[in-house]
Amino acid sequence: MRLVVGITGASGAIYAKRLLDILREQKVEVDVIITAPGKYTIQHELGLKSEELEKLATTSWDVSDMAADVASGSQLRDGMVILPCTMDMVAKMAHGISDNLLLRCFNVMLKENRKIVIVPRETPLHEIHLENLLRLRRLGVTILPPVTTFYHKPTAILDLVDFIIAKILDQFNIPHTLIERWKKPEGIAYE
Ligand SMILES: Cc1cc2nc3c(=O)[nH]c(=O)nc-3n(C[C@H](O)[C@H](O)[C@H](O)COP(=O)(O)O)c2cc1C
Repeated sequence: MRLVVGITGASGAIYAKRLLDILREQKVEVDVIITAPGKYTIQHELGLKSEELEKLATTSWDVSDMAADVASGSQLRDGMVILPCTMDMVAKMAHGISDNLLLRCFNVMLKENRKIVIVPRETPLHEIHLENLLRLRRLGVTILPPVTTFYHKPTAILDLVDFIIAKILDQFNIPHTLIERWKKPEGIAYE
C-alpha cells in the first residue's frame, strides 16, 4: 500500500508524526507533502525540524513542486490523508483549487476515486467551515475530526492521539493494535 500524507498548519502536528511512525512500522509506503505553515507548527508544537518528519516517509515532495510524481493521476496511490488539516485547506479543496502540490494531489485523488481522509482542526466552527466540510463529505471525502473519546480510559496524551490514528488506519484497513476495541464491560447494567 502507498499513501500520500499531507501536513498543514493546523494545531496537531503530533498526529502527523504518530501517523508517519506507525505507517513506517506497518511497512506502508508514504509520499509526504508539508505546507509552509505545517512546517511552522511542527517546529512550534514538537520542537522538530520538518525534515525529521519527512525522513519517516518513503518520499517527500516540496509543496511548490507541481511536477512531482504525485501531481499526476498516472501515478497509482491507494489514498490520501491530510492531518492536521486547516480550514484554509478545507475551503480550497471544497472549491477545486489546486494551486499547490497538496491541493493538486487532493484533486487527483478525487478524480481518480481514491480514498481521502481529512482530519480538520478548528473550534468553534462557523457556517462557512461547516458548508465546506459538508461539500467535501458529499464528494466522498471522509471527515475525521480529532475528536477524542474517554471510553477507552486514556491516561496519557499518546492514548488520545492513538485513538485518532487508529480511526485513520481503520479507514484503510491497515492492521494495528493501537487501541483496544470496544467490548461490552461486565458489571454495569445498561438500562
Ligand atoms: C500555531 C498555529 C496554530 C494554528 N492552528 C490552526 C488550526 O488549528 N486550524 C486552522 O484552520 N488554522 C490554524 N492556523 C492557521 C493556519 O496555519 C493558516 O490559516 C495557514 O494559512 C494555513 O495554511 P496551510 O493550509 O497551507 O497549511 C494556525 C496557525 C498557527 C501559527
